[in-house]
Amino acid sequence: MSGSVRLGAVSPASGAIRLAAEHFTAATLYLLAGSVGLVWIAPELAAGNFLSPHVAGVTHLFTLGWITMTIFGALYQLLPVALGAPIRWPKLGHTSFWTFAPGVGLFACGIADNSTLLYHVGVGLVAIGVILTVTNVAATLPRARSRDVTWAAIAIAITYLSSTLVLGVILLHNVHTGFIAAVRVQVLATHLHVAILGWALIMIVGVAHRLLPMFLLAHGANVRWTKRALGLLACGVLLLAVGITTRRDAASWTAVLLMEAGLACFIYQAVSFFRVRVRKRIDVGLRFAAAGLAFLIAAALFGPVVLWRGPSATRLATAYVVLGLLGGIVVFVSGFFYKIVPLLAWTARYSGPKRIEGAPTVAELFSARVAELQLGVMVSALIILSIAILIGSATGAYAGAALFALGVLLFLSQIGRAALGRPRRGIAT
Ligand code: HEM
Repeated sequence: MSGSVRLGAVSPASGAIRLAAEHFTAATLYLLAGSVGLVWIAPELAAGNFLSPHVAGVTHLFTLGWITMTIFGALYQLLPVALGAPIRWPKLGHTSFWTFAPGVGLFACGIADNSTLLYHVGVGLVAIGVILTVTNVAATLPRARSRDVTWAAIAIAITYLSSTLVLGVILLHNVHTGFIAAVRVQVLATHLHVAILGWALIMIVGVAHRLLPMFLLAHGANVRWTKRALGLLACGVLLLAVGITTRRDAASWTAVLLMEAGLACFIYQAVSFFRVRVRKRIDVGLRFAAAGLAFLIAAALFGPVVLWRGPSATRLATAYVVLGLLGGIVVFVSGFFYKIVPLLAWTARYSGPKRIEGAPTVAELFSARVAELQLGVMVSALIILSIAILIGSATGAYAGAALFALGVLLFLSQIGRAALGRPRRGIAT
């Protein structure tokens, strides 16, 4: 098993492999759809037109389709393995998948196309999928062996996901009624911060606390920073929601301070794990994670400027979300995908009581070189896209988006190879 994580440390829960696999497959397809959509909306991004329905549609291919679907799939693995809590209702996991997965596509197309029927059916399915998954996870958490920071992060994150849904439904109702009129931008800003920071980032902080030390073989780091990160981020997001919706500047600025401090604690925790690692070589999955952290820092630097300039600085606000969401969260999640999916594929094909002669290692299931190339392509793409948005260049935005789509194609080739690649000759599966 050289060049791969020790199976003993993250042995996948065999019963949940199918559940995780279907989520990961759908997530990858949505990432592809999102990257194609990104090219389509490139000129609107360059114009800072973040209120465009096209932008909202494509955004949710990434946020619900890629990020949320991947988190759901990872939770089905993580809860039994890391927290010792087998999923309460595995069959419900499949039901929620089959409502959420098609719902995301219908919802995204419905918003982008302004089709009331499509987005109503879509949001209905998405809402059922979210409610069923949140219920399943919430019913699983009490079975956990230990209630540590990862446990707390999952509990906080699913609470924020539920709030994201409520805010999203309000925004959707507004799309065809206009009932919140002047406060639309405030509710939108609240929705996207609750979703990106409260749901996705808090989940990442909690999961990274378990997985980073495993992947890096890091022992002896001071692990208290995750707890601080969680407290600061959770309070910061809540206060920001209050500050934005009630237009109290003091609350919003205090919230920004709390969130910046929370992110700093998370970064410090991650760096502490990297520092004490036994495995000196940093593999490509972890390089993606490190790049994701760098983009989060960039977005955090933009944050106060966006609040200071207000929503009228539309290109600045758009670049800020692109950096945080596509650069920070999407790239970080891609890194963990590279760590988890090949391992699951390896387990499904080659694990057993005896070592199979000639079986590849987990690391040999895909080409690290192509993955490195993909990382370079994606990082360049996001830098080009962000600069293009800031200077209002549609051509630059097209170039950045097209490069990003190329990166996603490389990703697909590697994940497809790891998941579907033929077993070597002579190996019984
Ligand atoms: C849970 C179900 C969700 C629903 C029903 C929903 C609904 C919506 C709607 C209707 C809009 C457009 C608002 C407008 O233009 O007035 C919107 C925007 C947005 N949402 Fe969601 N959302 C959901 C989940 C998420 C999640 C999980 C994330 C992030 C992780 C997210 C991030 C965003 C972002 C970044 C925007 C701004 C896009 C733009 O600039 O047009 N949403 N959402």
